[in-house]
Amino acid sequence: MTLAPHSPTDLARLAPSLPDAPAEVGALRPRRPRPTHRRLGATTGPLPELPPHRELARRELAAYAQRIRLGALVREHGSPLFLLDVDRVATQLLALRRELPRASIHFATKSLPHPAVIRAVHGFGASFEVASRGEIDLLEREGVPIGRCLHTHPVKTVADITGAYLRGIRTFVVDSPSEVAKFAGLPTHDVGVLVRLSFPNPEAKSDLSSKFGVAPEDAPALVERCLRSRLAVRGFTFHVGSQTASAAPWVRAISTTVQLMRALEARHGTRFDVLDLGGGFPVAYDEPVPPLAELTRGIRPALAAVPPDVRIVIEPGRFVAAPAMTLVTRVIGTSDRADGRWHHLDEGLYGAYSNIPAEDVHALVFAAAELGVRPVGDEAAERATRRVLTRTRVPVTLAGPTCDSVDVVARRLPLPPLADGDLLVSPMMGAYTWATATGFNGIPRTPVVEVSPA
Ligand SMILES: Cc1ncc(COP(=O)(O)O)c(C=O)c1O
Repeated sequence: MTLAPHSPTDLARLAPSLPDAPAEVGALRPRRPRPTHRRLGATTGPLPELPPHRELARRELAAYAQRIRLGALVREHGSPLFLLDVDRVATQLLALRRELPRASIHFATKSLPHPAVIRAVHGFGASFEVASRGEIDLLEREGVPIGRCLHTHPVKTVADITGAYLRGIRTFVVDSPSEVAKFAGLPTHDVGVLVRLSFPNPEAKSDLSSKFGVAPEDAPALVERCLRSRLAVRGFTFHVGSQTASAAPWVRAISTTVQLMRALEARHGTRFDVLDLGGGFPVAYDEPVPPLAELTRGIRPALAAVPPDVRIVIEPGRFVAAPAMTLVTRVIGTSDRADGRWHHLDEGLYGAYSNIPAEDVHALVFAAAELGVRPVGDEAAERATRRVLTRTRVPVTLAGPTCDSVDVVARRLPLPPLADGDLLVSPMMGAYTWATATGFNGIPRTPVVEVSPA
């Protein structure tokens, strides 16, 4: 498996192509220390090199922070702050379209249900998967044609189904006989269903087959049940697990589903016309993942066995949403505990970092000063930038702002020395973050500001 460029050699190759560091980013390069460092009592010398994946991400984020003028944005809007870049939504969609040209894209609305993201996906010409009345409301408000959307929740109330139907949804998902029974009141000739199959994948960060889907060997009975109820089965859907980092689970799921489709078509003299591969395409947090092109190189041969008249669907969420948002937080308190230094942030697990406990993904966190960022005229941040010049990284605990001991964002994370008021920045924070923030302890959801990189 070839990973995205992460070796030190790759980094060396990449470095000259990165934009020149701004004045602030100079802090990252060893320069002659100014006299103030001595006054701060610091050890002089450059910061040690980070592990390759983290160092590459730091360089990319430093260049990006400069392009979006991150320091000025925080000065204007305060902290915590989500910075939303909808160009990145379009870039990710384009990559999916290039790598899986046969697939119709239905963005997973749940991953980042922000109006600007919905407009970007719609403007790109992709459609949506939805799972609730609230998501349909949002899409309707943004002028999305609901009739093209898929309702993918395998378990709904009769009222949900009827409401979605009345608003235009025609394709639903079922994974049990009790769900099939809920369609009895609808004009079934006008509705089709996809049968959700389960393909357990314990290696995925979030194994959705542990909750949803009928085992492939039990699917024939469910299809028969649909047909007896005069409910048209348009095809099959599955989700191989979120943040799936190899092609193998898709290949296994596609091959099994294609065999199942052939067997059932022969048995019932019917034709299926949809194969929905779900989401699961990964992004790099604190660990590298294979590039999309490598994953799809593995998936495409399996798709060659899918008859040309079968529409292939994908429902990417994380892959589209995660790169679109960058999170800025601030240190609001510092304490020395038995296990070392703790910095308390104005965001945590019950808010923007909700992806950490819910999905076991680990966001990268950089001190803004490591990125050369400082809000112009911000004394605290200016001091932080000088500290980076002069000291090594120390392992610290980053805690969230609630009165709950679970609310710890990272432990033993090596960061340059921080003080209250210093900023921290996390890339790749668009998916299942803003969407899943809880408001616990009366802490409001972090505001989102749209940015347009220079
Ligand atoms: C039915 C369905 N489709 C698509 C997705 C998006 O998955 P991902 O964000 O892994 O791409 C999800 C996520 O929960 C889902 O439940």
